[in-house]
Amino acid sequence: MKVMECQTYEELSQTAARIVGDTIKKNSGAVLGLATGGTPEGTYRELIRLHQTENLSFQNVTTVNLDEYAGLSSDDPNSYHYYMNHRFFQHIDSQPSRHFIPNGHAVDLESECRRYEQLVKSLGGTDIQLLGIGRNGHIGFNEPGTPFQSRTHIVTLNEQTRQANARYFSSIDSVPTKALTMGIQTILTSKRILLLVSGKSKAEAAKKLLEGDISEDFPASALRLHSDVTVLIDREAAALRP
Ligand code: F6R
Repeated sequence: MKVMECQTYEELSQTAARIVGDTIKKNSGAVLGLATGGTPEGTYRELIRLHQTENLSFQNVTTVNLDEYAGLSSDDPNSYHYYMNHRFFQHIDSQPSRHFIPNGHAVDLESECRRYEQLVKSLGGTDIQLLGIGRNGHIGFNEPGTPFQSRTHIVTLNEQTRQANARYFSSIDSVPTKALTMGIQTILTSKRILLLVSGKSKAEAAKKLLEGDISEDFPASALRLHSDVTVLIDREAAALRP
């Protein structure tokens, strides 16, 4: 794993956007694996700026998101569909027909997982996968204990993750209990992985990722099995590094 330390969240976001932008410049039809949550918001803002001021075009890009809550429709403001549309897609020139996010409102969630896994495969995997990390080491919604061999599947969200995400909902009770997520093996099929780690609440997770064992108890440790991972970490998240 290549670790790049940034001074601030802004610098981390600019660096991440530059890396994604360079991927698109090299391959205008790149397949981008995207994440939601607080961490990549700055990266999306910066990519929008690159689109507006430096003519970075997403016209031929395909996007594939990591995960979605079960039970929320795509126009629910807490859904990841809504997040992506409002924070990113509406501000760039990508084509909606090339945006893929698991359908959390599908009648048959098991078959939706199979369909999504097949879709990622048919695209040849992602060229670059953007990831955040949970304090418990989750990537996507793959909670501790998820097999490294997992493919797109339904998960029951654990309490820590629901609490962490409750900030977006009116109350903890409205946070869904289930979600659909690419599995760890699905994520590892990406050609390149860009993991963003920001803020002091992630310092413990960063230390475990960089110095701990490779174990299913800490899902992000699976990334150490991949040959092209860049970890962008800001100073606060790097506080416990030697
Ligand atoms: C979101 C996702 C999650 C988040 C993680 C960190 O699509 O897959 O794994 O990356 O929960 O979230 P933030 O960035 O809000 O701390």
